[in-house]
Amino acid sequence: MIRVGLIGCGGIVNAHVPGWKAAQSCARVVATCDVDETSAKQRAQELEAGATYADWRAMLADGEVDAVDVCLPHRFHRDAIVDAAEAGKHILTEKPLCMTLQEAQDIEAAVRANNVILMCGHNQMFQPAPRTARRWIKEGKIGRVFSLRTVDCGLHTNRQQSENGENPWAWRGSAAEAGGGCAFDTGYHPAYVLISLADSEPKEVVSFSANYNQPLLDAEDTAQTMVRFANGAVGTLQTSWGHPWPNGHWQFHAIGEKGQIYGRGNDLYFQPLEGEAQKEPLEPEEGWGFISEMRHFADCIKTGQTPEQGLHEGITVLKLILGGYQSEREKRVIEL
Ligand SMILES: NC(=O)c1ccc[n+]([C@@H]2O[C@H](COP(=O)([O-])OP(=O)(O)OC[C@H]3O[C@@H](n4cnc5c(N)ncnc54)[C@H](O)[C@@H]3O)[C@@H](O)[C@H]2O)c1
Repeated sequence: MIRVGLIGCGGIVNAHVPGWKAAQSCARVVATCDVDETSAKQRAQELEAGATYADWRAMLADGEVDAVDVCLPHRFHRDAIVDAAEAGKHILTEKPLCMTLQEAQDIEAAVRANNVILMCGHNQMFQPAPRTARRWIKEGKIGRVFSLRTVDCGLHTNRQQSENGENPWAWRGSAAEAGGGCAFDTGYHPAYVLISLADSEPKEVVSFSANYNQPLLDAEDTAQTMVRFANGAVGTLQTSWGHPWPNGHWQFHAIGEKGQIYGRGNDLYFQPLEGEAQKEPLEPEEGWGFISEMRHFADCIKTGQTPEQGLHEGITVLKLILGGYQSEREKRVIEL
């Protein structure tokens, strides 16, 4: 049984709880940690974990956990991951891996030196449709891929006004604390989906971003980013907290020499070059891929296999997004 320590017990843990419950034949959350004692206790109760901590270093020192699940605000990812690696614990981390390339180097060095597994919580690549689409593309179902598009948008109407003088974005309201705005946070999802489906390294990036209607956020609420991959494919991603999901757009869409693959969540379609679209029957999974994500993490620890979304994938997404910001600042295409 893999014993997991949960670090950070806030909003995203609502989605991690069903994932850990589904993986309980091989992994169990045995300890929770949060600076907010009430949150740590509440999650411990939901997951039947025996121990709670306010400091992740104390949790790592007591030796009762084999792995950690990092669900902290972005500015703490680097330190929690490095500390866990140095304590010999395997790591599942929420996106983004960290905030800067220097932090990524520190993480890479600690993970390699201590020979632990690091998996990035790129949960959407564990949803049935994107995951199957990736396999199909690798198998050559649409031949050479020319064009890709990914989307993750949603209008945050509840964060446009402050109540009781508090910023409803909390730490996300400040680019200095969060690493950026929507492109850095929600934009991480369409970025890793784009890279995973292109099945190639991103080589050039250009991005345009703006804040349209989130006055309490000090960074962009919307971004559109274009990427050229080493294999020649070009992808576009669209992400927003300032407008809703564009009507008629899929989560992902890939076009290649033999046809198109597109879909969202549990729904996947293949359209041959000259033919009707066919819906693929998939076994649906509840939620946003977290159940398969936790199972994959536990499998990697058991078998020693490299996670599908590991260190390399996490760093590649970070480079792409930071390159996008650089492109916006310098008004040019950035070579990665
Ligand atoms: N995969 C997804 O779809 C998705 C969705 C939302 C959030 N996330 C990611 O999850 C992570 C957490 O986001 P959230 O929305 O849960 O944030 P949150 O603010 O709701 O929760 C963060 C928790 O960390 C605790 N915390 C803060 N500093 C701490 C410290 N030093 N030690 C211990 N605990 C500390 C806070 O008290 C809080 O309970 C972020 O990386 C975010 O990008 C991912």
